[in-house]
Amino acid sequence: MADEKILIVDDEKSMCQYLAIMLKKEGYSIKTVNNGKKAIKEISSSNYDVLLTDIRMEGIDGIEVLKQVKEIDPNLPVIIMTAYASQKTAIEALNMGAFYYLIKRAAKNEEIKMVVRNALDMHKVRNENVFLKKQLKKKDGTRKIIGKSEEIQKVFHLIDKVADTESTILVTGESGTGKELVARAIHYQSSRANTPFVSINCGALPENLLESELFGHVKGSFTGAIKDKEGLFKVASGGTFFLDEVGETSPAIQVKLLRVLQEREIIPVGGTSPIKVNVRLVAATNADLEEAVHSGSFRADLYYRLNVIPINIPPLRERSDDIPLLVDHFLRIASENVGREKSISKEAMDLLINFDWQGNVRELENVIERSVILQDGDLVDVCDLPDRVRLFSKDRRKLVMDKTQITLEELEKEYLLSVLEETNWQKKKASSILGINASTLYRKIQRYGLEREQETVAL
Ligand SMILES: Nc1ncnc2c1ncn2[C@@H]1O[C@H](COP(=O)(O)OP(=O)(O)OP(=O)(O)O)[C@@H](O)[C@H]1O
Ligand SMILES: [Mg+2]
Repeated sequence: MADEKILIVDDEKSMCQYLAIMLKKEGYSIKTVNNGKKAIKEISSSNYDVLLTDIRMEGIDGIEVLKQVKEIDPNLPVIIMTAYASQKTAIEALNMGAFYYLIKRAAKNEEIKMVVRNALDMHKVRNENVFLKKQLKKKDGTRKIIGKSEEIQKVFHLIDKVADTESTILVTGESGTGKELVARAIHYQSSRANTPFVSINCGALPENLLESELFGHVKGSFTGAIKDKEGLFKVASGGTFFLDEVGETSPAIQVKLLRVLQEREIIPVGGTSPIKVNVRLVAATNADLEEAVHSGSFRADLYYRLNVIPINIPPLRERSDDIPLLVDHFLRIASENVGREKSISKEAMDLLINFDWQGNVRELENVIERSVILQDGDLVDVCDLPDRVRLFSKDRRKLVMDKTQITLEELEKEYLLSVLEETNWQKKKASSILGINASTLYRKIQRYGLEREQETVAL
C-alpha cells in the first residue's frame, strides 16, 4: 500500500503533522507542504493519488488549488478541509469537482480515513478506466480495416451481411491483404463477440503438433503426452475459430476438419469418444484452393464445406484508391510510436500509389514504419523510401529511354518479356501490369513467339 501517495496542504503546521501521522499509520506515503504554490508545484512534478487541502491559506487558497489541479490532473481526487463550516464554500468546492468536504476537528479520525480510502479507490478506478479506454482505442485504431475503394467496400458489405450468421467463411487473398483482419472483424461484429477468437496458422506447425493443438490429445497417446490436453477447438468453444493457411493442411488433418464441419465434433489424438464443439469457423488461404482441389492436394468435400461464403480481398495494387488512406493511417500510428508528428510529401505519396505492392498492405505498413523511424525531420520524402519503391517507375521509363533506336514493335516485345519475367510468367499479374486482358496478352505472346527460358530443375 506504500505506493499510494497523498499530498497534504495546510498552512497550520500542527494540522499537517496530525494528518500525516494518522495516515502514515494506514500505510500511505505522505508529503506535506504549507502553501498552495508548493502544492501546485508538487502536483505538476510528481504523481499523487489523493490531495487533501485546507481552504483558507495565504496566497493561493484551497479553491484555487482545486481549480488548478483540475487542469493539471483531472483524475486526482481532492479533499477540501476547513476549520469553519460554511455551506456556501462547501457547495462551491463540490461543484468544482472536489471529492469531499471535511470540517477540521469535527471530523473524526475514522471519517477522515474512510474518506481518504474512498478517494484512493476512486482514483484507482478512474485510472483503470483511462487505461482501458486507451486499450480499447488502441485496439479499435489498429484493428480497423481502412479503405474506401469499391473493392474494399464490397468486402465491408459482405462482412456486415455474414458476420452475424453461423456460416463458415473462406477468406482468400494474397499474403498481407488483410485476411486475418477480416476474420477478426467478422468475429467482433457477430453475436459471438464476447466469446473467444482463437486462431491457428496451419502452415506454421508440423502435422503431429498441429493435430494435437487442434483436437487435443489423451495422456499416453504418444511419447511426451504426459497428461490430457484440451484442443484449441475446445478452447474456442462458443467462439470463433480462425484456421489460417488452411491450404497447408495434410490429408489426415483435412479429414478431421471435415468431421468438425459435418458433425461438429472432434476426437482427440489417441482418444476414442468424440467431443462436441460449438465453434464458428472462419478459414483463410493465400493459395488457390480450387487449383489444389484439381491437383488432388486438397479434399473437394472439405473445400465445399469451407467455401460456403467466400470473401476475396483483392491485392492492394488493384485498389490503389485505398493507398492514401492507408498511408495516413500508418503514418499516424508510426508518428505516435516515435512521439513526433510526421507527414508525407506529394511526390512520395505518388510513388506509393503507383508501386505494385507484391506484399500488399503488410509491405506498405512496413515501408511507412521504416521511413518514419529512419527519417529525422517531419516530412517523409521520396529519398526516405526504399530503393525498390523509389526506382520502381523509373525502371520502366529507363527501358523506354535507353533504347531509342528500336521500333515500336521491338520495344513492345522487349517490354512484354520484361514484365513476364518480372512476374514469373504469371499471365494474370502480367496482364494487369500491362493494362491489357489475358487473352490479348496470350495473342501477343504467340505473335512475338515469346518463350519462357527453360529453368533447370534440381533433382
Ligand atoms: N485494410 C486495412 N486497413 C488497415 N490495416 C490493414 C488493412 N489490411 C491489412 N492491414 C494490416 O496489414 C497487416 C497484414 O494484415 P493481415 O495479417 O490481416 O494479412 P493476411 O492477409 O492475413 O496476410 P498473410 O497471408 O501473410 O497471413 C496487418 O498488420 C494488418 O493490420
Ligand atoms: Mg494472415
